[in-house]
Amino acid sequence: MDNDSDMGRRRFMEMGIYAITAAIAAVSSGALGLFTIGPSLRKKRSKWVEVEFGNPPSAGATFSRVVLEYETKDGWLTGQVRKLAYVKRVRRDHVIAISADCSHLGCIVTWDEGQKIFKCPCHQGKFDVNGRVISGPPPAPLKRHKTRMDNGKLFLATEPVPYGGDASESV
Ligand code: FES
Repeated sequence: MDNDSDMGRRRFMEMGIYAITAAIAAVSSGALGLFTIGPSLRKKRSKWVEVEFGNPPSAGATFSRVVLEYETKDGWLTGQVRKLAYVKRVRRDHVIAISADCSHLGCIVTWDEGQKIFKCPCHQGKFDVNGRVISGPPPAPLKRHKTRMDNGKLFLATEPVPYGGDASESV
């Protein structure tokens, strides 16, 4: 009888030690995971970057290619980002900016003034003047950068957003 109760107590103690060890392991691995990969899971925040626009094109002018250059922090890494976009003044006080990143695999598209389309050199994707897909494998329109004019200077938001087909944002 005594032997049985010793065994029961020993088993109970073992189970308690296992439970405490498992709890410590779970808490410490969760904390380690948050510390190491947490920063890279944070949503990228858009910020305004001034772009060299030269003389602002007048209404009806062709697209101008602009470069967005800015510093970014991704998790524990900081680096310099360089993106391209095509800008066009659609009203006196409003400029649209179409991302040059192809929606297929991210190659840089070019604007063909003769055909009035954007072309991707990688898999022959083609987009109309508003960045909507005409042909090829791209699954979605080219994204848009939000724009802001301030004292004649042009600012673009760093994170492009999907194009919703809004008429006020169309060429
Ligand atoms: S990356 Fe542009 S069509 Fe494939």
